[in-house]
Amino acid sequence: MNTPLVAPPKDTRQGSIAIVGMGMTLGSHLTPLSRSHIEQADVIFAGLSDNIVEQWLQRMNSDVRSLQPYYKEGKSRRKTYEEWVELMMVEVRAGKRVCGVFYGHPGIFAWSPHKVIEVARAEGFQAHMEPGVSAEDCLYADLGIDPGTVGCQHYEAGQILFYERRIDPSSYLVLWQVGLVGDRSLARFTTSGAYRQVLVDVLAKDYPLDHEIIIYRAVTLPIQKPRIRRIALRDLPFVDVPTEETVVIPPAAALKPNHEIRERLAALDKLEQEAATA
Ligand SMILES: C[S@@+](CC[C@H](N)C(=O)[O-])C[C@H]1O[C@@H](n2cnc3c(N)ncnc32)[C@H](O)[C@@H]1O
Repeated sequence: MNTPLVAPPKDTRQGSIAIVGMGMTLGSHLTPLSRSHIEQADVIFAGLSDNIVEQWLQRMNSDVRSLQPYYKEGKSRRKTYEEWVELMMVEVRAGKRVCGVFYGHPGIFAWSPHKVIEVARAEGFQAHMEPGVSAEDCLYADLGIDPGTVGCQHYEAGQILFYERRIDPSSYLVLWQVGLVGDRSLARFTTSGAYRQVLVDVLAKDYPLDHEIIIYRAVTLPIQKPRIRRIALRDLPFVDVPTEETVVIPPAAALKPNHEIRERLAALDKLEQEAATA
């Protein structure tokens, strides 16, 4: 048997929580450290996207409790997420070594994992988050995007509608949760094309309607292939966008040189060069 990577807690009466990410793809994205947290835990709470992934998790720990049944159509997701935090904290307070396992990266577009760590620490318990491979990581690989070339903005799609945000069309724009864009109730799992039309109207301020956008789904089971659909921005209301897909908008404008700052930097270079040779 391998030596566990995670040391047992010094005081076993003291509860603790580790939040780990399963990554996106079954079997290939789980880090050795996250796996060790799963194997060493007294109880696991699972917020996963797939039943098969949950079954795989059960092979690593015999006490896996699914968080999925707490979701209900018409019930506010905020209430569900608060319940998840409380479920985990009850076991932490009981002195157990708790592990929360979430798909992707547990800290990306995920309220409960951050909240439970905050609550546990405030109550004096040990709490830690392990990163995971997120949909974001997969899309860079599958779509051949390097966010370092022209930059990359990420937004929860609804934020573009509810708030005035400054979109930079010379960078990539990644929109999460487009499948339920515009849902203000937090109680729906999808919204109709009419809501995506509002999103298109807002984006049309910065992008031409014939601009090519990408609807992307990362592989969750190793037998799958990534789903990559390229459509014109204007067609977004008329195609199905499942909740587990992400929309990527490539740049529509070239980077604009900032001449004023370049001149200032050139003057600075000159000054430093003169000082060095004086
Ligand atoms: C609540 S967030 C969770 C993200 C997750 N924590 C991660 O690290 O990727 C859900 C959103 O993630 C994106 N997402 C989830 N599964 C995906 C997949 N298989 N491929 C692409 N995007 C996905 C979608 O934008 C979806 O609306």
